[in-house]
Amino acid sequence: MINNIKGFVEQLNYEAEVFGKDFEYSGKRVFISGMGGSGAVADLLSDWLDGEIIPVKGYKLPAFAENGDLGIFVSYSGNTEETLSVLDKAIRKGLRCICISSGGALEEIARDRGLLFLKVPSGFQPREAYGFLISAVVKALKIVGYLSEDAQREYSSAVGKLSSYLPELSSEDSKTYEVAGKLYRRIPLIYSQFYSVAVRWKNQINENAKNFAHISIFPEHNHNEIEGFEFPDFFKDKAWIIFLRTDFDHGRVKLRMEVVKEILREEVVGISEVWAKGESKLEQILYLIWFGDFVSYWLALMNSTDPYRIDRINSLKERLKIHTSGG
Ligand code: F6R
Repeated sequence: MINNIKGFVEQLNYEAEVFGKDFEYSGKRVFISGMGGSGAVADLLSDWLDGEIIPVKGYKLPAFAENGDLGIFVSYSGNTEETLSVLDKAIRKGLRCICISSGGALEEIARDRGLLFLKVPSGFQPREAYGFLISAVVKALKIVGYLSEDAQREYSSAVGKLSSYLPELSSEDSKTYEVAGKLYRRIPLIYSQFYSVAVRWKNQINENAKNFAHISIFPEHNHNEIEGFEFPDFFKDKAWIIFLRTDFDHGRVKLRMEVVKEILREEVVGISEVWAKGESKLEQILYLIWFGDFVSYWLALMNSTDPYRIDRINSLKERLKIHTSGG
């Protein structure tokens, strides 16, 4: 897995194979449906492109989706039932649909119906194919003419610069290893303005390190979670806060994070801070995500667990297969 984490930038540069008929999309709204490691792409695009990208998690297509809107369906395996369910509804409602997977039912449906389909390499865990899925979605948005020239330039430049951070992120005397050490045998509380960053950290820590983790998004955190530190009493000895910070955080969020550090200092075992590097918003988001991927890997080793093992997810999917009802 470490080699695939190190290979993030190569994945971000990957040109997915394209099948089916391309088209022009001149509308504004884009729904991206996906779960887990695949759905994380929707969160990233939504944070990067500010709002017009609507992540869809779960079985339902939002009621306001209309005939002619664009829907992108991302499932690494191609067999995730929630994503297939949203695709079915989108086709029936007349959305323009693009599918992205390494194979599975999503590929079959796309090919049968002649939908635009982008194929990513197989043989990875979905979460370690994150870069392939991001580059495929970016390519799809480019093909249909949705992605502006500025955004395309920002993507190329961010990905181009990212590789220079590999040495400082990937070694065992790096800050990534130090942060993993702080989280070892603790409950990580991950705080960020950007959902895509916080949730990728949490998901990677959950799946790779089999470690519980919690996220909270600023400034919403300040209106509720900040009060929740009195009970249970053992929590204080277990919780470690990580602030994930970027230059693109709102000015008041930057201030709020400083004040929260002062208020919560005595309420947790410790507080760490990771500042993003890079120039553009996308580069900073990708830097923090990549940083977190390494942290999750080191934490897996510290927890003496196999980062590949996802027994509970597999067992859940197997058990669900037996039941065809509930749709
Ligand atoms: C497993 C993983 C999961 C999957 C999720 C959806 O590595 O990361 O979160 O991504 O169960 O499956 P796919 O990505 O195949 O649609």
